[in-house]
Amino acid sequence: MRISVIGCGYLGAVHAASMAKLGHEVVALDVDPDKIGRLAAGDAPFFEPGLPETLAEALASGRIEFTTDPSRVAGARVHFLAVGTPQGPSGAADLTYVDAAVTGLLPHLAPGDLVVGKSTVPVGTAVRLAARVRAVQPEATLVWNPEFLREGFAVQDTITPDRFVYGVPAGEAGQRAVAVLDEVYARALAAGIPRLVVDLPTSELVKISANAFLATKISFINAMAEIAEVAGADVTALADAIGHDDRIGRKFLNAGLGFGGGCLPKDIRAFQARADELGVGQSLAFLGEVDAINLRRRAHVVTLAEELLGGSVAGRRIAVLGLAFKPNSDDVRDSPALDIAARLVELGATVAAHDPAAIGTARRLRPELEYADRAEDALAGADAVLVLTEWAAYRSLDPQAVAGLAAGRIVLDGRNCLDRDAWTAAGFTYRGMGR
Ligand code: UDX
Repeated sequence: MRISVIGCGYLGAVHAASMAKLGHEVVALDVDPDKIGRLAAGDAPFFEPGLPETLAEALASGRIEFTTDPSRVAGARVHFLAVGTPQGPSGAADLTYVDAAVTGLLPHLAPGDLVVGKSTVPVGTAVRLAARVRAVQPEATLVWNPEFLREGFAVQDTITPDRFVYGVPAGEAGQRAVAVLDEVYARALAAGIPRLVVDLPTSELVKISANAFLATKISFINAMAEIAEVAGADVTALADAIGHDDRIGRKFLNAGLGFGGGCLPKDIRAFQARADELGVGQSLAFLGEVDAINLRRRAHVVTLAEELLGGSVAGRRIAVLGLAFKPNSDDVRDSPALDIAARLVELGATVAAHDPAAIGTARRLRPELEYADRAEDALAGADAVLVLTEWAAYRSLDPQAVAGLAAGRIVLDGRNCLDRDAWTAAGFTYRGMGR
């Protein structure tokens, strides 16, 4: 099937390459000529495991075209909207890019076309956009098909997601849309991946409430970490024990620095802003607490570092291992690790930071930090070691080797990812989160 993908960020670039891999003819559009140039040359503009290979395969098949020319989307039967919905100044989602994408698409829509929103939008957006589409092309239909991909697993999550959610209008147009989307995702559906057909507002809410739930789960365990710390308990053992209950589950119960990235933080704020607009702000008031618990983790790590270094970090050399908001990503948007590194510098510390993938993206946001290309260089002469992103390379660090490089014997495990006993045996004062 000929499809277009509008927006080539994390979501769109992965979606476009994956759709071509599935055998569709894809036109991928973005306003950024630089990004398009790189994608067309097979150069993934961000770190995402599996994307370079998927992109190379798509380009080699001749089934994908990257363009900045909006008229190229004409002739596609399905148009995916995959642009960003960043946080606006009030906390509400900024829909500028979504509206611009629709504006650019409208002149090229033909009767029978399907416009498929994938971006995370405030509930009510799809109904509003559907009216815009109908006004220009009454025989085109807008539906919503939210994306649940995780960075680091984006290709896998696109090709074989946990479930498909189709938000469609009532009646015949909705039924036709379901049939077209079933064709797009035929291979995954044949493999038995569940598909839920709902109305437009429900589909928008499914996505945002899933992220709100995940954020709440993380803040729940971080709240338990706060209690465990003063009560002398161990939150990791607590998570293991409650996680055995199927109804709770062990996933997303890792206490640490909390959540960051381009989705969870902004999504819980946008969700609250939308609930306020709808006059039901109270229903999501707890998300304010989820956000507050999350942000307290960052302040707490800075306080712990001060305590461990005798009351102040000023003039001390600190090795920060990890800058990305999570491992297997170069994304530093709202990254707790990068935030903490910057706060330590503000407090007068010399921070030598390392990350296996995110130094380039971090340097752009925080040029004031000192970056080390090798973890060993960050560790050399450090008074304290802070592990802030749980990359496999840090989990497997040999504490004896680190002891040979660092000046001090202090390790702060911001993600509870190190072997406490091994580090203690190597002479380190070990501090984890909530244990
Ligand atoms: C998230 C959702 O998982 C995904 O479904 C949605 O489509 C986009 O937002 P992503 O932002 O890629 O995906 O990251 P995710 O794996 O959810 O992690 C988010 C943050 O939570 C990271 O900073 C991670 O370190 C943190 N986290 C995760 C914890 O602190 N503890 C956990 O137990 C799990």
